[in-house]
Amino acid sequence: MSENIYVIGNWKMNKHLHEVTDFFDQFNISLHDMFASDNSANIEIGVAPAAIHLPQLSDATNFSLVAQNIASEENGAYTGEISASMVAEYSRYVLVGHSERRMFFNESNDILIKKIMLAYKYNLIPIFCFGENLENREKGDYLSIIKQQIEKVIFPVFSSSVFLNQTLIVAYEPVWAIGTGKHASPEQISEVHDYARNLLIDNIGNIKGSVPILYGGSCNSQNAKSILEQKNVNGLLIGGASLDVDHFTKIIQIAHGLS
Ligand code: PGA
Repeated sequence: MSENIYVIGNWKMNKHLHEVTDFFDQFNISLHDMFASDNSANIEIGVAPAAIHLPQLSDATNFSLVAQNIASEENGAYTGEISASMVAEYSRYVLVGHSERRMFFNESNDILIKKIMLAYKYNLIPIFCFGENLENREKGDYLSIIKQQIEKVIFPVFSSSVFLNQTLIVAYEPVWAIGTGKHASPEQISEVHDYARNLLIDNIGNIKGSVPILYGGSCNSQNAKSILEQKNVNGLLIGGASLDVDHFTKIIQIAHGLS
């Protein structure tokens, strides 16, 4: 089991500068108060704003910055891209393999492998997202889809001794639960997290510590507790509910209470 509980907000393509500023004015005060009353909690809070706002937030103290994306190439003539080394000047983590990137930007397993390797090269910790779509869930072959997603990206990276002892975080995000208001049940989450835990233990021995497994997909303050109480759930990746500072803070408070 990992020690920390992770609560990470993924803002996707939302919030303009003044909204970011307003959010953090209030968020910093709330976090300060929460940690002032108990700073022993093992909780890691992350926020993934649009890349353009990363520099503005780089003096964050109570939380870590997460990039939503990095380029799959190191540098050069790739108009519009932002490299891992640029992102690493501000960010501690980077999301890799989010289903929206796979779906709308055609990111293949080979691209995801390149991104994870570049993340490690520049000391970013990748948060690798995986999860089945509705069709896979209904057909009942979701575990084999999940196995393929993990074994085609994570195993090749860790088969190389170059990445010996790197830190990895993964997030189970069933596509049918993202942005739909229909979260997976604690039993469904538990089944996949236990499965992923065993798959990782059996196949990547050269990794640092145990891999935190987060859940994402319509998490909110109503379901956070029951999800976080599952054995192999080490945190939450939150989209919509992280956009509202009160709601996001409430989820952090719940995690804080369990940590
Ligand atoms: P959601 O998004 O919480 O809005 O469902 C989760 C995600 O995409 O990471």
